[in-house]
Amino acid sequence: MNTWFITGTDTEIGKTRAACDLLRHLAEQGHRVAGLKPLASGCERTPEGLRNADALDLMAASNVRLPYEKVNPYAFEPPVAPHLAAAAAGVELDLDVASGALKDIEADWLIVEGIGGWSVPLDERLLLRDLVQVFTRQVVLVVGMRLGCINHALLTVEQIQRDGFELVGWVANQLDPDMAELEGNQATLDRLLPAPRIGTIPSHDVEKQEVMGKWRLPPLSLR
Ligand SMILES: Nc1ncnc2c1ncn2[C@@H]1O[C@H](COP(=O)(O)OP(=O)(O)OP(=O)(O)O)[C@@H](O)[C@H]1O
Ligand SMILES: [Mg+2]
Repeated sequence: MNTWFITGTDTEIGKTRAACDLLRHLAEQGHRVAGLKPLASGCERTPEGLRNADALDLMAASNVRLPYEKVNPYAFEPPVAPHLAAAAAGVELDLDVASGALKDIEADWLIVEGIGGWSVPLDERLLLRDLVQVFTRQVVLVVGMRLGCINHALLTVEQIQRDGFELVGWVANQLDPDMAELEGNQATLDRLLPAPRIGTIPSHDVEKQEVMGKWRLPPLSLR
């Protein structure tokens, strides 16, 4: 099973958008795919329990059906930083819960969405990277294309590599339809980032569910 972890240059820059597009792209190519959101804050109370919009979007884009609890084992209600949400809920994060959720998933691809950016504390002890290594060493960086994104992208990749993970590719999410020098910024990132651009997602009407991104994945090695 191939597993990619999706991180971003910031919160709210298109990780879910990109992860869903990628899931649909892989599914169209005949792969069995599942999206996961192991940890989410900002969840809604429902009769079935807390539900997170990202997790539901990822489930809708997946062709492997999983119970909600496997997709999103840790769900917190307030839309705040995860370590504060976990503390408020009195929950101690257990990485075995995250790895346990992986058992019995029959898929060719797992696409795991992170929370916030890369350097995110999960509680007093754990950082996001501790959770990522439960799933994979391979990381995809979604860059929200807007002024300042080059700095955020370079700093994020430096830290991903320092933490011992591999950047397998980056995605240009053209969030801002009026960004000046969009192409120039993308070309700069193509030159400076140590992995290829694997996806380009135009600014679009987010209500539309069809695949909007253009994907070019590196030759795949099934691991
Ligand atoms: N290419 C795009 N064009 C237009 N709007 C976009 C695009 N990508 C993302 N958005 C919008 O920007 C917002 C943030 O996107 P998204 O939820 O995918 O970000 P995220 O990084 O997953 O956020 P979070 O940190 O909350 O998980 C959403 O309202 C989404 O619909
Ligand atoms: Mg998201």
